[in-house]
Parts: sequence; structure tokens; C-alpha cells
Amino acid sequence: GKGGYDHYMRKEIETQHVSLANGIKGRVGPDGREPDLDDFPPGAFEGVERVQFVACGTSFHAAKYGTQLLNKAGVAAQAFRASEYDDAIPVDRETLVVAVTQSGETADTLAALDRATKAGARTVAVTNVMGSSAAREADDALFIRAGPEIGVAATKTFSSQVVSLSLLAHRVSADAADESPWDDPAAFYDALERLPDHVERVLGREDAAGVADDYLGSDAFFFIGRGLAYPVAIEGALKFKEITYEHAEGFAAGELKHGPLALVTPRTPVFTVVTGDDDETTVTNAREAQTRGAPIVAVSPPDHTVTDAADAHLPIPDTHPDIAGLLANVQLQLLSYHTADRLGRAIDKPRNLAKSVTVE
Ligand code: F6R
Repeated sequence: GKGGYDHYMRKEIETQHVSLANGIKGRVGPDGREPDLDDFPPGAFEGVERVQFVACGTSFHAAKYGTQLLNKAGVAAQAFRASEYDDAIPVDRETLVVAVTQSGETADTLAALDRATKAGARTVAVTNVMGSSAAREADDALFIRAGPEIGVAATKTFSSQVVSLSLLAHRVSADAADESPWDDPAAFYDALERLPDHVERVLGREDAAGVADDYLGSDAFFFIGRGLAYPVAIEGALKFKEITYEHAEGFAAGELKHGPLALVTPRTPVFTVVTGDDDETTVTNAREAQTRGAPIVAVSPPDHTVTDAADAHLPIPDTHPDIAGLLANVQLQLLSYHTADRLGRAIDKPRNLAKSVTVE
């Protein structure tokens, strides 16, 4: 049941510290510096030259996050929308193809997986459902252990995907390099162990409900970010449009000035996701929108310079930059939820959408 919450989506947001703890438990090595994934021991990915992710919707956004982490560690990685993964895209035996799919039943993703298998690639399914088609059809599976998700909008499973893909990225990149490509792996694993606690702290805050009220009735809602914050921005926009039916778009922060700035007015709040120290340019991009009258809502750690520019703030705890995006996304989940709730939307079953899309 809904466990006392008004909607499954709310329950699934509010219990993320539990599902995340479950996804992390036993998966950090005893030295706290590397992943411990049963089916993927050290060396499991030897010979992998490049990684291609195939996924749809929210799972695609998690895949993009994984891509960025792998690239940071020196591994060539790309994320494809599964429906665009056609025969023109080169795949070979040195390519690891990772299908990211919560349900494990998405037709577009299964078709991409099939294509990769036929091309001789090694395949892994990152999924929430044991015994799903993706888990059966891929060479190996990594389960995100989020527990069943009933709300049509993916929330807790995105967070669990990000965690599992981080661990997978650490394993793949360590196998591809002679020594750990990560600057300070202990700092990342320390942040991972503290993640459920950090998520709980975000869940205990009430800023998102207030921001939802303040900007209800806006003409459109924009979300911007760069680097690891970019997948968070486009996920924030997808969730928002899905359950509020309001117009929402996510942009790479640097792209605003190449077109979307024409849409910006005092009636289009710009949610600015900033999760790393190197995001100063994003602050400049947000200010460009602010100059055209747009309210800026910073989604960031408390003392980031973006907050000086912001009209409102959705704060997240200070943590490792590789995992901070997940916390920012929880704030945006709450924003979407509260906005949809104020508008009286069918939050758990938005119009025209299905939980699992089994047609191409
Ligand atoms: C968004 C949402 C969809 C799914 C997409 C892929 O909230 O739920 O965009 O993420 O249909 O589904 P899976 O992950 O089951 O392959």
C-alpha cells in the first residue's frame, strides 16, 4: 500500500534513503576504495575498449550520468537513446553495451540490446527486476535493488540507477587502466556510505513545497546544468512535465544563449543545478537569464556562489561532486511532486503514460 502517503510517488520519494542503503549494502570493498560487485570481480571487464549505454526516458538520464563518470575516468563512453541506436552506430567485440532499464521490459531498449548482441558486443543489463527480459537476454545483470516502483514516474529507481552505475563505472575504469583512475576513491566511497543520511536530510526540508507555490502559474519551467548536473537538469524537466502537464525543458547551461534564451521572461523560472566547484560558468549562464527577468532557483550546496545570484534556493548537503547530482535530483522530485499536487494532477498515473512501454 501507500503506507500513509497520499501517493505512491510520494512514498517512493520519501523512502529513498532505505532503497539506496539497500543498493549500497555489501557493494563497497573492505578497504573502502573500490566496488565489491559479486558478478563483476576485479578484471571482469578486461579487454573492454569502450562503453555504450542504451536506455529511454529517466533511465537514459541515469545512463548519461554514468557516461560522464566513465569519461572522467578516461574510458570512452556514450549514451544512446535506445530508439536511436540503429545499425549505423558502430559496435564491436571490444564494446561493452549497458542497457539501463528499470522494468527490464522496455521494447526500445530490448531492441537495442538485441542489436548489440548480434553485433558481438558484450552486454550488461542494469535493472530493477530480476527475471525481466533484459536480465535474461543480457550476458550479465546488475540489479539496482530499489524495490517495486508503482508510480508511473521513476523516482527512487533513478537514484538507485545512479548508485549502481557509479559502482559499475568504478569497476570498468579500474579494469581498463593500470592503476585507479580516480583521484581519491576513499572520498567517493565515504560519500556513498553517507548518501542515505544525506538523502534523508533533503527529505526533511520543506523548501521545495514553498518554491512550488511561489512559481505555480509560470509560463514554463527551465532546468539548466553542465557536466554531471546536465543529466539532472533534463531529468528534472522530464519529471516536471510528466506529472504537472506544465511546459518544462532541460538545457545544457551553455546552450541557453544559443537559442532558448529567446523563451526566457519574468514568467519562466530557471532552475539552476550546480553540483561541482567547476560550475562557475553555469552561474554566468544563469545570470544571463536573470538579466532578461527570469527568476533563478539555485539547486546547490549551501554556500556555492550561485546562491548569491539566486532568487530562491533548493539546498543540498555538501558531498562528493560525483554523487551530489543525485541529491539535487531529490529536491527536483519534490518540486515536481508538490507542483503536481497543487494542480490536482493524477500523480501516480499521469495521462497518456504507461509504467512500462512494450511497443517500439
Ligand atoms: C519517466 C519514466 C520513463 C521511463 C522509461 C524507461 O519517469 O518513468 O521515462 O524511465 O519509459 O523505462 P525503463 O527504465 O523501465 O526501461
